[in-house]
Amino acid sequence: MNNTSTRTVQGGGSGGANGPLVEMKGITKRFGGLTALNNVDLDVGYSEVVGLVGDNGAGKSTLISILAGALRQNDGKIYFKGEEVDIHNPEGAKKLGIETVYQDLALADNIDVAGNLFLGREEYRFSLGPVKFLAKGEMEERAREILEVLNIGFDSMRTKVRNLSGGQRQAIAVARSIFTEPDLVILDEPTAALAVEESNRVLKLIEDLQGQGISVIFISHTLQEVFSTADRIVVLNQGNKVGDLQPEETDVDHVVKLMIGGRYESTARG
Ligand SMILES: Nc1ncnc2c1ncn2[C@@H]1O[C@H](COP(=O)(O)OP(=O)(O)OP(=O)(O)O)[C@@H](O)[C@H]1O
Ligand SMILES: [Mg+2]
Repeated sequence: MNNTSTRTVQGGGSGGANGPLVEMKGITKRFGGLTALNNVDLDVGYSEVVGLVGDNGAGKSTLISILAGALRQNDGKIYFKGEEVDIHNPEGAKKLGIETVYQDLALADNIDVAGNLFLGREEYRFSLGPVKFLAKGEMEERAREILEVLNIGFDSMRTKVRNLSGGQRQAIAVARSIFTEPDLVILDEPTAALAVEESNRVLKLIEDLQGQGISVIFISHTLQEVFSTADRIVVLNQGNKVGDLQPEETDVDHVVKLMIGGRYESTARG
């Protein structure tokens, strides 16, 4: 049975340490004449996994891109740890502790596992004028540590990424995202291209992130995996938030109806 009461709207940014990690409030995004997001609120709690669902074009990627600093909202505010923040670009988001794994993982095929984990932030042993020497051993060691934290086993750090499976590549991208010890990892359709077993491994990774105290926003079109992984499910429908539900109080059929219908419902706390 579904509780259909509307979720109470809280005052912005009053959360502080006891409130959510992230509060997006009244986010509106227009692309020319198209309103991709219309006055959308999104909260993410500490160590919470939020599943973000909606049909193609519902606005999921647009919403997380605003949080990731890849897009700017036309209207609305973002609070992080209770403070209003202005996220100008991806670097700004990373600095706050928000890491994003986009669907096109941007891994370098011809570089090995360790190299991909450190892509763009290679550690140098020393430099000789303009020539820098990578601290290969130290990079491998740190890479191994990160993979261990996430329970990812690779026989060799020197395996070229082009020889890995889709699930292993996804795991590398996730592992890379926690290098900076973020508070929030955003995963935009991490299982879209994966077989069932590989998807399950990625879902396990999400649990491991949560176990590390990291909050996760997880986008997927596979509602079964969202139900098994998320603490809360947020539903978008043509740029509007139409649901904010706890998985145990709803079911797949109901969420599908919200995705294609259009009535706001909530069983979430608060
Ligand atoms: N850069 C852009 N320029 C113009 N329109 C855009 C842009 N990005 C997204 N849109 C439009 O905004 C709407 C929301 O797109 P968005 O990519 O956020 O949807 P989505 O929920 O992620 O869909 P999918 O499940 O297909 O990935 C769509 O109508 C899309 O065409
Ligand atoms: Mg998308």
